[in-house]
Amino acid sequence: MNIRSDQKGIDLVGVAGQRERRFVIAPLMDSSIETRCFADGDFAAADRLRHAAGWNQTLADWQRMVALDPAGCFVAVDDGEVAGTAMTVSYGLELAWIGMVLVDPDRRSRGIGRGLLLHCLDYLRAKGVRCIKLDATPAGQVLYEKLGFEFEWPLMRWMRNAPANIKPAASDGVSTVEGRDAGAIEQLDRNAIGVARPDLLHGLREHALQGLVARGSNEVLDGFGFLRAGINADYLGPVVAKTETAGRALVGNLLAGTERPVFWDIPGPCESASVLAKELGFTHQRPLVRMHLGPNRSPGNPKILWGISDPATG
Ligand SMILES: CC(C)(COP(=O)(O)OP(=O)(O)OC[C@H]1O[C@@H](n2cnc3c(N)ncnc32)[C@H](O)[C@@H]1OP(=O)(O)O)[C@@H](O)C(=O)NCCC(=O)NCCS
Repeated sequence: MNIRSDQKGIDLVGVAGQRERRFVIAPLMDSSIETRCFADGDFAAADRLRHAAGWNQTLADWQRMVALDPAGCFVAVDDGEVAGTAMTVSYGLELAWIGMVLVDPDRRSRGIGRGLLLHCLDYLRAKGVRCIKLDATPAGQVLYEKLGFEFEWPLMRWMRNAPANIKPAASDGVSTVEGRDAGAIEQLDRNAIGVARPDLLHGLREHALQGLVARGSNEVLDGFGFLRAGINADYLGPVVAKTETAGRALVGNLLAGTERPVFWDIPGPCESASVLAKELGFTHQRPLVRMHLGPNRSPGNPKILWGISDPATG
């Protein structure tokens, strides 16, 4: 592989992506460090990096996300130890996501994060993916900007420590997800995100503590939402709602199902969700930024995206 880099970003030339491929990322990082595909034996080490960063994903989340494209998930290995992780998930060829970019705190600022990112970009471009997105932490944003990623819109992680003494919104029209809802859920998600994500939605449904749909007149779905377990807090999302009534009913009923702290990542453009979060006693935990590399031809509609699925998958 040939890597050219300039101040505007990077240009990768070469064919990549074979599962067995291994190469040293030098000269971009310490020459003793190599990347390889994520293997079944890496989950424990990867989860230690997740723990060190204080992130919320469970081992089941790691397994669910890696299963979406095992050949597109990578680890950096230093001296025989997993020193960093990065995963990709492709939603067809129009859009792919990069997530779980984590570097061992004792091995930071040695080019490992950058090397892993370049490896992901190389893999996705070899596949022919047209647009790559990610949700960046302030620490990651600096790195991604240097690689040419552009700002799309801001996100805020909201959190609630204890259940608020607020009655759940009226549950009229809200019911548990059923198999027959899969197609309508996929369509709503596609309207919000811009591309179809059937495999992601299937996995989320399988792992959810609760999955709800909101029906409007004529039994048409106006929205859906999931709540799942996390390490530090339950996670509210994804939630997609075409109407304010559906959004409020879904969120109220999903929150009524947990006594634990809750994290909720809300896109800036979905103002109705931020207003509701405040009303329900949520406070800001940390800002994130949605970024893209390549033409953003299918931006979806973040105004109906009341909660993302995870910063690692969008
Ligand atoms: C963000 C993270 C992955 C960076 O990994 P890393 O191996 O230390 O990064 P690198 O050494 O490859 O640095 C890449 C570039 O970003 C810059 N950079 C990295 N972290 C930075 C920070 N916190 N502040 C400012 N610049 C930073 C480096 O200066 C470097 O720039 P250069 O290539 O022009 O010298 C790592 O800090 C981390 O795991 N953080 C916690 C988890 C996280 O926030 N992940 C990002 C999710 S979006």
